[in-house]
Amino acid sequence: RVEADLDLTKTLFTEEQIQTRIAEMARRIEADYEGRDLLLVGVLKGAVMVMADLSRELDRHVEIDWMAVSSYAGTKSSGVVRILKDLDTDLDGRHVLIVEDIIDTGLTLSWLVANLQSRGPASVEIATLLRKPEALEMPVDVKYVGFDIPNAFVIGYGLDFDEKYRNLRSIGTLAEHMYS
Ligand code: PRP
Ligand code: MN
Ligand code: MG
Repeated sequence: RVEADLDLTKTLFTEEQIQTRIAEMARRIEADYEGRDLLLVGVLKGAVMVMADLSRELDRHVEIDWMAVSSYAGTKSSGVVRILKDLDTDLDGRHVLIVEDIIDTGLTLSWLVANLQSRGPASVEIATLLRKPEALEMPVDVKYVGFDIPNAFVIGYGLDFDEKYRNLRSIGTLAEHMYS
């Protein structure tokens, strides 16, 4: 195991639980998008692991593109999101599925959905591995959710604390001594 696993207070989801759930999400996505082209849009950097595993689990052709957005610098409530790297793909008439690691306040995703909707796609939906219902500040209509989790600081499987722990295979809560 990675040494960093020692910084986890508690494992929320093991590698096996994550992969099982992603496979279930993939079966639903395959069924829902049957006969339609599908563009997966990943949000850097947290979504990298979900995108890698979800896209490979899908037994069909997909296209993959990426966006990088700044998370509302400064105060969390501003809701201001800035595009750091835009898509290479024209969304006109496309079926777009945004792939995220986590929806926390919902500010990033509510802004992103509106932004992508304005580009004339055929549809825009969201697949997120994690969601924190208690932290939600903006309503976000999410079609595919892996797990609803309590309002705690979670790391691993793409999720970072100060840019670390993204490479853990499991997801857990960070030990308090690591950030206090
Ligand atoms: C995290 C996470 C989501 C977003 C969710 O990204 O990966 O993209 O925050 O938060 P919200 O629902 O409150 O908007 P972050 O901005 O930390 O960037 P990262 O993906 O590069 O870690
Ligand atoms: Mn992110
Ligand atoms: Mg982050």
